[in-house]
Amino acid sequence: MLDYKVFAGNSFFYPIKGNIYLCFKTIDKNDKEKYLAGFKKLSSKSIYNRFFGFLKELTDKQVDELLDTDKRDHIAWAAFDFAGEETFGVGVGRFKRSATNPNEAELGLTVIDEYQNKGVGTILLGIMYYLAGKLGIEVFTGLILSDNAKLINRFIELDAQFTRTGNEYEMRLPVYREIDHLPKTEYSGVLKPVLQFLKENDLCP
Ligand SMILES: CC(C)(COP(=O)(O)OP(=O)(O)OC[C@H]1O[C@@H](n2cnc3c(N)ncnc32)[C@H](O)[C@@H]1OP(=O)(O)O)[C@@H](O)C(=O)NCCC(=O)NCCS
Repeated sequence: MLDYKVFAGNSFFYPIKGNIYLCFKTIDKNDKEKYLAGFKKLSSKSIYNRFFGFLKELTDKQVDELLDTDKRDHIAWAAFDFAGEETFGVGVGRFKRSATNPNEAELGLTVIDEYQNKGVGTILLGIMYYLAGKLGIEVFTGLILSDNAKLINRFIELDAQFTRTGNEYEMRLPVYREIDHLPKTEYSGVLKPVLQFLKENDLCP
């Protein structure tokens, strides 16, 4: 079996379920078209879970803000499937450092519906988690809707704490710099190999 976890600093190939290799890379303003093409493939349910509203499309200003990354305080990586004729982002992970608490950052993860449950979200989370540790982030924050129980439980398995306000849960997920410090749960067992790969290759923002 061909194994090409090719690592090239700010991009790499990594397998998802079914041994399909996706390209993971940093994104910025140059990726606007591919980003918008991926957004169009999100279901309204996924958009609601991620953006908490039934957005049809993002405004130019919103897209510019989402792609205004700086390798320090605002990090975003996307997954691309180059196998088909059209190239589009199949998932994005990002975090933005808090202006008031520089040791904290807000985490966002989105995977388009046809690629969900194949491990893409876990790889993107691994990238965010690993880079956050390197950049001095100690806690990921985020809001998750209360009906997204599966995701909440996945984060609880990584030691996250949640506070409920109405139908939203406010998350605080500790970012452990040492992989061995992650709790010994089923989901951390899925995340750890990704973190190990990133560590071995000394991934940089
Ligand atoms: C939340 C979201 C990002 C998750 O992404 P995803 O790619 O579907 O997640 P994964 O495929 O990595 O994980 C799904 C399952 O596969 C499992 N898995 C992942 N990688 C695996 C692997 N290599 N081997 C075996 N199982 C694996 C995970 O343990 C998880 O199991 P579970 O269903 O028992 O919890 C995605 O569902 C999404 O975009 N939802 C809409 C937006 C949203 O809710 N965002 C969160 C708020 S910011």
